[in-house]
Amino acid sequence: MSDSKIKAPRGTFDVLGEDAAARSALEARARAILEGAGYERIETPAMEATELFARGVGASTDIVRKEMFTFEDAAGRSLTLRPEGTAPVCRAYVEHGMHKRRQPVKLWYLSSFFRHERAQAGRYRQFWQVGAEALGSEDPAVDAESIVLLATLLAELQVREVRLRLASLGSTESRSEYRERLQAHLRANEQELSEDVRSRIEDNPLRAFDSDHPGTRAVMEGAPRLLDHLSAEDAEHFAEVRALLDVAGVSYEVDSTLVRGLDYYTRTVFEFTSDALGAQSGVGGGGRYDGLVEQLGGPPTPGMGWAAGIERIMLAGEAPPTAPAPVELFVAIEHARADVRRAAFSLLSEARSAGLAAQMDLGGRSLKGQLGQAGALGARFVAIVGDGQTTLRDMQGGGQTPIATGAVVHAVLRGHHAL
Ligand code: HAM
Repeated sequence: MSDSKIKAPRGTFDVLGEDAAARSALEARARAILEGAGYERIETPAMEATELFARGVGASTDIVRKEMFTFEDAAGRSLTLRPEGTAPVCRAYVEHGMHKRRQPVKLWYLSSFFRHERAQAGRYRQFWQVGAEALGSEDPAVDAESIVLLATLLAELQVREVRLRLASLGSTESRSEYRERLQAHLRANEQELSEDVRSRIEDNPLRAFDSDHPGTRAVMEGAPRLLDHLSAEDAEHFAEVRALLDVAGVSYEVDSTLVRGLDYYTRTVFEFTSDALGAQSGVGGGGRYDGLVEQLGGPPTPGMGWAAGIERIMLAGEAPPTAPAPVELFVAIEHARADVRRAAFSLLSEARSAGLAAQMDLGGRSLKGQLGQAGALGARFVAIVGDGQTTLRDMQGGGQTPIATGAVVHAVLRGHHAL
């Protein structure tokens, strides 16, 4: 053995043990909620053409500027490990002609994503998101339904101290007029701003609302707010989303300073935070992206969705109980002889084919050791396969009886009243 152990790369982690069981339980809840609401599962590749994110997420965002794992394949094509799921889902929507299906097309995923960020608690370089995207309808009910589904998921997973912030960015047209106003305000106060914000006045002035630089924050207090400059149509859309959330009993704060780290948003944007988390308080967020599909070469198609971080949900939630599946039958062998082992293995296969949760010893243990293992697994019945005869033991009732090997499965399925 070499003396230098190889570890998982910085910002990545193994999923195992109770953590793996808790994630399976979370996935089962997400599936029940989302598929119950008509969302179908989609999984896209872990890597995509780099251009998808440059065009989709926006060249001026932190994600594209500094956080992508990008490499060239052998043919010199630039590929990127997906930093997020919305652009890939839109790519798949176009590639599979999903605009021809009944709209909206509703898709959900639970996948891992990659961002080259400074690793810390709640922020990793490979992390998992559950996400939901609805493409093909601009009905405000799509927005409200989508937000309610995430609220439901977070509530069911008992994520603590959740707050929902909500805003509207308006459509691209109404936003461009506002952008000019904001840029004028930023330029008028340029010397107060952080270096970073100053360098983005041209291409991404809205990000200034997201800064924690004290000078910038002071300037932003007095900045014009997008919510005050929505077109009548956008304002009406936003009012309807809020009315529907009220009807559904989901509480929220309207926050005119809410900005998201991706450029594709239009109209509704939202973020769920948990005060139980530290600095990385964002549990999940999303919004509308009515221009994205077209930007990626598809037909004009509105879209709305969200993604939530699995690790952050687990950090801020109550871990669901993860009782291991009960073992219904443990097959033990009396002698370590090949014919006995084969008979036991055949019984194991038969039991599993009949739908029983069955196990047998794979560690070469003595009979005593095997019975100990069956006890540790909480096995309901143990079949001890011997030389020409089998014994069935009821681990709850305590009784045992000789039985033909071929009759074991039937007896276990019946709960074996005879013992
Ligand atoms: P996002 O806000 O970038 O949105 O990410 C969504 C969630 O993923 C965050 O709220 C956070 O919980 C989790 N997350 C992000 N980065 C990390 C990280 N480095 N480590 C751990 N967790 C992280 C999106 O990705 C959009 N695609 C959401 C969306 C879907 N918008 C519309 N549809």
